[in-house]
Amino acid sequence: MLQWWWDAGIEGQGVRDVAPRLPAEIAFRVASVTEVDADAVVVNLFEGVRVPGGATGAVDAALGGVIRDAIACGELKGKLGETLVIHTLGRMPARRVIVTGLGPQEGFGRRAAREASAAALRAARRHGCRRVATIAHGAGIGGLAPEEAALATVEGALLGLYRYRAGGREDAGERDVEALWLIDRTDQQRARLEAGLERARVIAEAVITARELGNRPANDLTPPRLAEAAAALERLEGVQVEVLDEVILRERGFGGVLAVAAGSAQPPRLAVITYTGPGRGPGDPADVALVGKGVTFDSGGISLKPREGMEDMKFDMMGAGAVIGAMEAIARLRLPLKVLGVVAAVENMPGGRAFKPGDVITMYSGKTVEINNSDAEGRLILADALAYARELGARRLVDLATLTGAMVIALGHEVAGMMANDDAWAGQVAAAAEKAGEALWRLPLVPSYRDLLRSEYADLKNTGGRPAGSITAALFLQEFVGDTPWAHLDIAGVAWTDKVRGDSAKGATGYGVRTLVELAQALAGAGGEGR
Ligand code: BES
Ligand code: MN
Ligand code: ZN
Repeated sequence: MLQWWWDAGIEGQGVRDVAPRLPAEIAFRVASVTEVDADAVVVNLFEGVRVPGGATGAVDAALGGVIRDAIACGELKGKLGETLVIHTLGRMPARRVIVTGLGPQEGFGRRAAREASAAALRAARRHGCRRVATIAHGAGIGGLAPEEAALATVEGALLGLYRYRAGGREDAGERDVEALWLIDRTDQQRARLEAGLERARVIAEAVITARELGNRPANDLTPPRLAEAAAALERLEGVQVEVLDEVILRERGFGGVLAVAAGSAQPPRLAVITYTGPGRGPGDPADVALVGKGVTFDSGGISLKPREGMEDMKFDMMGAGAVIGAMEAIARLRLPLKVLGVVAAVENMPGGRAFKPGDVITMYSGKTVEINNSDAEGRLILADALAYARELGARRLVDLATLTGAMVIALGHEVAGMMANDDAWAGQVAAAAEKAGEALWRLPLVPSYRDLLRSEYADLKNTGGRPAGSITAALFLQEFVGDTPWAHLDIAGVAWTDKVRGDSAKGATGYGVRTLVELAQALAGAGGEGR
């Protein structure tokens, strides 16, 4: 959760730095919904159920049928995201019952359980509840294993409660939830529920790390500061970080990174995070490299963007944010793997030394690129980072980038795009995303579109025009990955949100962290604990 960031005493610039707050107590307890002493107890309802059973039925009975009545008069439908807050008026020790909708039973999974839990905890906070007990959503008729239900419930709760507090803003007078208890009637499933809860804590904190980085303004989170955030991961066991500064980048010929950084007063950085887990040694190749686009602000450079909405381009580093978050979780989970995280950090500005349309640059790989649009900067820094990751010996590659506006047009704000040069690897990434509950759709790397990148003056141009803009961007990257299995995730539409959505507040979502962690887990062969 970036706690290491504050612990490391990294000074904020321009904003008052305030750490996000999680409930002080997050724990499993043996208790029944009708007997637990809390400010609120959370139960659930599938859409279309008229006579609830299980914990919800027990609460309904204790309250004289109030939930059945709310269903009968159409006040409660069980839709995902819907909540009903009921005052218990002394008929139960808990002062409130919150019924949260799980949506339709068909298609229910980790994502729905998480969103229902997020909605419930936000409702609890709105009602001033400070000690909240919740059952694990989806463990019964939802068909989730206990670990998975606990994971989704606690993950959703913590992420739903997350809010960005740096910058000294007021919290709209809402007090924080101080205790979150995952409850079950008996002790029987304790070990499995606790395992899910602990995993949820690690994963939620990693997603919050990514969100915190994204939400910081670009005058605060500059490329050197983004690299410092990566470097702060060194305090985790098995993690080493090397940060290449502008002098070394020049010496070693990182032409793509340097070109983009040239127009900014902020120097570039390339951070390489190495996690060496149990069973892996210094000489071993990395099982996978996670590569992130870290443009801390994208003005477009000389090909300047329109002013409308340009402030959102502080989120143009969320590929890097997801990589840093994922590396945090992978290291804390002690996965038996070697994983590289490569973060390319630059600011794209139209200064006097800026790279220009018509310029020809030489990339780290040695290929030359004719610049025809300085706003297509992400692919330039990623190309260098991917080539470097290969050189470091990564056996597989995944990159995450807010790469193209065309992706937002194609898939909108709820689904990210994937393009890959290897069907098996693409399948593994898709499976991880599915398991993580992050929506992803594969687009083709249409070979003939490579012609759109032909240049008169260099090996290739950096843009291929408007048609299939996301695909030509990926085809550009493909030129730098050789035959290494590689998947590119274009997260332009999903990296931040301008309204509360699912388990995310306004701002950075942290999309991708969970997919990367599931992917690493799958590579580690642990299979995600009994799922
Ligand atoms: N960071 C942008 C892409 C982006 C746009 C992300 C909107 C999220 C929302 C990227 O660097 C960019 O500017 N891409 C250009 C490419 C074009 C010049 C070929 C774009 O999409 O317009
Ligand atoms: Mn751009
Ligand atoms: Zn960009």
